[in-house]
Amino acid sequence: MALRWGIVSAGLIASDFTTMLSSLPPSEHQVVAVAARDLNRAKVFAQKYNIPKAYGSYEELAKDPDVEVAYVATQHPQHKSAVILCLAAGKAVLCEKPMGVNAAEVQEMAAEARSRGLFLMEALWSRFFPAMEALREVLVQGTVGDLRVARAEMGLDLSHFPRSRDWSQAGGGLLDLGVYCVQFLSMVFGAQKPEKISAVGRIHETGVDDTVSVLLQYPGGVHGSLTCSISSNLTNIAYVAGTKGKAQIGKIWCPTELVVNDQHKEFPPPVLGKGYNFLNGSCMSYEANHVRECLRKGLKESPVIPLAESELLAEILEEVRKAIGVVFPQDK
Ligand SMILES: *[C@@H]1O[C@H](CO)[C@@H](O)[C@H](O)[C@H]1NC(C)=O
Ligand SMILES: *[C@@H]1O[C@H](CO)[C@@H](O)[C@H](O)[C@H]1NC(C)=O
Repeated sequence: MALRWGIVSAGLIASDFTTMLSSLPPSEHQVVAVAARDLNRAKVFAQKYNIPKAYGSYEELAKDPDVEVAYVATQHPQHKSAVILCLAAGKAVLCEKPMGVNAAEVQEMAAEARSRGLFLMEALWSRFFPAMEALREVLVQGTVGDLRVARAEMGLDLSHFPRSRDWSQAGGGLLDLGVYCVQFLSMVFGAQKPEKISAVGRIHETGVDDTVSVLLQYPGGVHGSLTCSISSNLTNIAYVAGTKGKAQIGKIWCPTELVVNDQHKEFPPPVLGKGYNFLNGSCMSYEANHVRECLRKGLKESPVIPLAESELLAEILEEVRKAIGVVFPQDK
């Protein structure tokens, strides 16, 4: 049975997600509605992607009985209200990352989903790539021995994206790119809560973080580090090393190769749809298929990125921001 999606926002990432969904088998995924705050934008979007219904408010989409799951792809500061609106109307929700601007927002969304018994997942698409699944298997098998250290870097020159420096939209490297690094470290160290977090950072003149380095001490004597930047291109490599070797992925946000002790394994990306705004949009199909599986099994959370881990990631990011002195309007 097809999963019936409602798209909340008519922005760039919403377009990519819809392009991807539209090229999956219609027996598995269908886009039944789109909502934007401006009805005309929603109508143009609906026409472009052949979506039956267009709404000028998120409320109307949330109330549409045809919508089974809402994909919330608004800007970060608008996630919370849109997610809560959709949950309150009984919809399952996939919310773009980062789920919230700070930990309190994510806790509020998670609490709403739990109390209503509804599915909510943060769209950390990287976790669903076959290369990342293979890495998790390598860790379970103990191929790299007892873990000692992990490192993740993500830096892209985003100077052509004004939003990346927009303080009122909770821009900066940590929430856009650092979240990929934090989720990597969290994944390899079993979603444990770090015992100690230290960070240094360079702040952009608008008040957002420009380049940040973080050290995370985990229980059991292992630690990880990350660097993220919106003004310099970094290696975008992530690895974990232990007493028997090392496992590494490149392109941390969309890994297609896993290198374990110098053995390379390729995981070719799916070829689906055309005209994406961002690189590698077709790979969002991994997470879309995961959401469908979870919902068809009646799950209320993803076993791959459970709500408690989204809450933990938000706590870590918030603590890093405190350490380097970045405060957003949403922090009050
Ligand atoms: C980053 O890489 C892009 C793509 O290769 C390039 O266009 C840009 O000039 C680079 N920016 C910096 C700051 O190195
Ligand atoms: C991502 O996009 C780049 C540039 O178009 C392409 O070379 C690469 O194969 C793509 N990778 C994935 C995972 O889709």
